[in-house]
Amino acid sequence: MIPRKKIIAGNWKMNKTQAEARVLVEDLLRDIGRFDDAEIVLCPPFTALAAVSELLNTVSNIRLGAQNMHEAASGAYTGEISAAMLKELYVRYVIIGHSERRQYFHEDNATVNRKTKAALAAELRPIVCIGETLPEREANKWKNVLQTQLIEGFAGFGEKELADIIIAYEPVWAIGTGKTASPAQAEEAHQFIRKIVGDKFGATAAEKIRIQYGGSVKPENAKELLSKPDIDGALVGGASLDSRGFTAIIKNACSE
Ligand code: 13P
Repeated sequence: MIPRKKIIAGNWKMNKTQAEARVLVEDLLRDIGRFDDAEIVLCPPFTALAAVSELLNTVSNIRLGAQNMHEAASGAYTGEISAAMLKELYVRYVIIGHSERRQYFHEDNATVNRKTKAALAAELRPIVCIGETLPEREANKWKNVLQTQLIEGFAGFGEKELADIIIAYEPVWAIGTGKTASPAQAEEAHQFIRKIVGDKFGATAAEKIRIQYGGSVKPENAKELLSKPDIDGALVGGASLDSRGFTAIIKNACSE
C-alpha cells in the first residue's frame, strides 16, 4: 500500500484581518512551525495571503493555500483573483467548490471542473470539496450526490490530474453546526469516494488520493476521525481560527 501523508488544512473563511492573521500565524509557528508528521496548510482570506506568506516563507513546514480562484488567466472579472496572482504569493493549494461557494455563489460541478483544471495548469494543488446536504442525507441520496460531484467535477481528467488533487468530504449538515459526522459515517463516505475514484481513474489513483474530512472538526474528535483508514486529513473551519485549537487538532490527529 502506498502511504498517504496526512494533510490538515485550516480554512479561515471570511475571518482575520492582516493584523489578526499575523498574531495567529506567529503563535502557530511557535507551536507547530517545524511539525513534519502531517502536511499543514493555512487558507487565509485573499487580503491576508501576503502577510501570512511573508511569515511562513522559508522558516516553516506550514504551507499556504487560498480559498478560491477564478479559472481565467486574466481579464474583466471584477472582484476575482487568478492563479498567477496566488502563485506570486507562494500559494501552493487552493480550495475549490467549497459548499459555501456552491450555495452562496452558485458554483456548480462544471465551475468546479473549470477551476480545478486551471489550478492544475498553474501547478496549484486543488482541494476539491464535495458533500451532501441534510435533506440529501436523510433521503439516502448521499451516494448519488457524491458520485455526480466527482464524475462531473473531474470530467476529462485522468490518473495524472488525480495525482495532484486532494478531495475534501464535507457533509454540508456538519459544517459550522457542531454536528460532526460520526467516524463510522465519515469512513463509509470516504470509502465510497475512494471506490468511485478507483472505478473511474484506476486503482493507483484511488490508493494515492488523499481525502480530507471537514465539518465541525475539533480537538476532541480529530483523533478518532483521523484514525480511520480512509480519512487522510481534515479541513478545519472554526477551530482553525484559534492557535491552541488548531495545534491540538494537529497533535491529536497525529499521535499514535
Ligand atoms: P467548521 O469546521 O467550522 O464546521 O467548517 C468546516 C469547513 O467548512 C471547512 O472548510
